Amino acid sequence: MDTFECITTKLEVREFSQKDVPSDIRLKILEAARLTGTGMNTQHWRFILIDKEENLKRLADDSTSGSWVAGANFAIIILTNPRYGFHMIDAGRVLQNMQLAAWNYGVGSGLFTGIKQEQLKSDFGIPNELSPTVIAGFGYPAKKLMGKRKNRLSLHELVYYEKYGNPIGNSIG
Ligand SMILES: Cc1cc2nc3c(=O)[nH]c(=O)nc-3n(C[C@H](O)[C@H](O)[C@H](O)COP(=O)(O)O)c2cc1C
Repeated sequence: MDTFECITTKLEVREFSQKDVPSDIRLKILEAARLTGTGMNTQHWRFILIDKEENLKRLADDSTSGSWVAGANFAIIILTNPRYGFHMIDAGRVLQNMQLAAWNYGVGSGLFTGIKQEQLKSDFGIPNELSPTVIAGFGYPAKKLMGKRKNRLSLHELVYYEKYGNPIGNSIG
């Protein structure tokens, strides 16, 4: 799959099949994370891989908007250091790279940001200086997503030409 196709077809997946994701694909998803750039190459982030059923359930309990993660094949907690002003950008970039790498192999994923911070930090032994910024759950999609379309604004609503408010008109061909 080329990069553009990967981006345009990828959807959030929150229902997963029982089929295990092979370890080589899981490794590629983690490598995609490792090779993503951070601001000033600080590499302040750390990742916790979760695949034991009881810990996936614990993750779901520690969330306010990601109870579906209990059914994932595995999950990754993305930890970033809030002392860096750009840490949320780093988290978004690494998350997207992992999700796209997964999608390229037919593996779906979803994310959640509603996290009971103190509870999750205590449950997973996370040090004070790191923040669980976003959590992703991965697995093969439970059902065919064919036909599900992205609900997005058009380019004409989103993009201006030269100055805020100028319509793009024909300038994008
Ligand atoms: C910053 C951010 C936070 C999100 N938080 C959650 C969340 O807490 N729980 C959840 O199930 N999905 C969450 N999502 C997923 C969005 O609901 C999803 O990206 C959006 O509905 C588009 O989905 P689609 O690509 O399948 O059309 C979040 C997405 C982003 C970018």
